[in-house]
Amino acid sequence: MSQTQQSQQTQSVRHAGTTDPAGPASAQAEVYQFHPHGFDAPNYGTQEQVEVEGYDDATLARLRREAAQVAGRYPQARSALLPLLHLVQSYDGYVTTRGLELAAEFAQVSTAEAAGVATFYTQYKRHPNGRYLVGVCTNTLCAIMGGDQIWDELSEHLDVGHDETTEDGVITLERIECNAACDYAPVVMANWEFFDNMTPESAKVLVDDLRAGRPVRPTRGPDRLTTFTEMSRVLAGFTDGLADQGPSAGAPSLLGLGIAREQGWDQSATDGTTQESDEQAGTTERSGAGGEAHPGPGEKHSSAEAPAGGPASADEVPDAEPGTAADDAQKGNPQ
Ligand code: FES
Repeated sequence: MSQTQQSQQTQSVRHAGTTDPAGPASAQAEVYQFHPHGFDAPNYGTQEQVEVEGYDDATLARLRREAAQVAGRYPQARSALLPLLHLVQSYDGYVTTRGLELAAEFAQVSTAEAAGVATFYTQYKRHPNGRYLVGVCTNTLCAIMGGDQIWDELSEHLDVGHDETTEDGVITLERIECNAACDYAPVVMANWEFFDNMTPESAKVLVDDLRAGRPVRPTRGPDRLTTFTEMSRVLAGFTDGLADQGPSAGAPSLLGLGIAREQGWDQSATDGTTQESDEQAGTTERSGAGGEAHPGPGEKHSSAEAPAGGPASADEVPDAEPGTAADDAQKGNPQ
């Protein structure tokens, strides 16, 4: 078979089942088209490039003043990189190139290093983000408790996939990993505030309220949901005055603690530091379930394994003089 014949055969295999006159590229696009609501990879680098000009003078002056304030909190400027990236995100709605360069300048790192950080953490967006970032936890526990169903229905309801934004620019939807709120599974986050024990229906009500501009209150945390840029400013270290609002821990999170107290289980039995801080707080009961006293900080926890008249454990045996028979015995060397 000639090279030309091979090539023609390959082309006909690629086009099998298609009558696309536009050729291989068009057919390939058809074959590899993403399912609109299926599990698709993050579209990093596939979003439309947005041209952003420099900051105007007043904005730049304020941003530089605040960036200096953030960098000034740390003994080493590079330690300020994460809040600096949140700061520029609070100005631009995502980490723009101009913001990245400014953050790198104040953190005294190269733009490439700053870009490496900004593209590593999913809290930093490299393309325009919606007013509200809605994340559906699809990690194991939330997934089996209904998170997968919430994702499917919400994605279809909004007609967007992972890391995509609704046409009105209000909602960016994403799959998220465990947010350490498994006791409230399935969980939805909006701008990193918790919406607990969700259902497909309550998740749709949430996004509909956000799109309609109706006030929304997270299950825990502040009394009102702030916008993505407002939240980014808080993460940069500028308070919005809402930190003390709302409950932070609910009954499911505290259940284990209640049982431990009921049973008299005491962490201080294995952690002298906790014992000390509990005693300072006046909350420690020194007795276990059997009424025996627990050892205090620095005290030996148990003598049960100690041979009569001997040390309790190997690490209490004093080091023998190097090179002596006792030393060889400790190391298991033959005599
Ligand atoms: S698995 Fe969803 S919060 Fe842990």
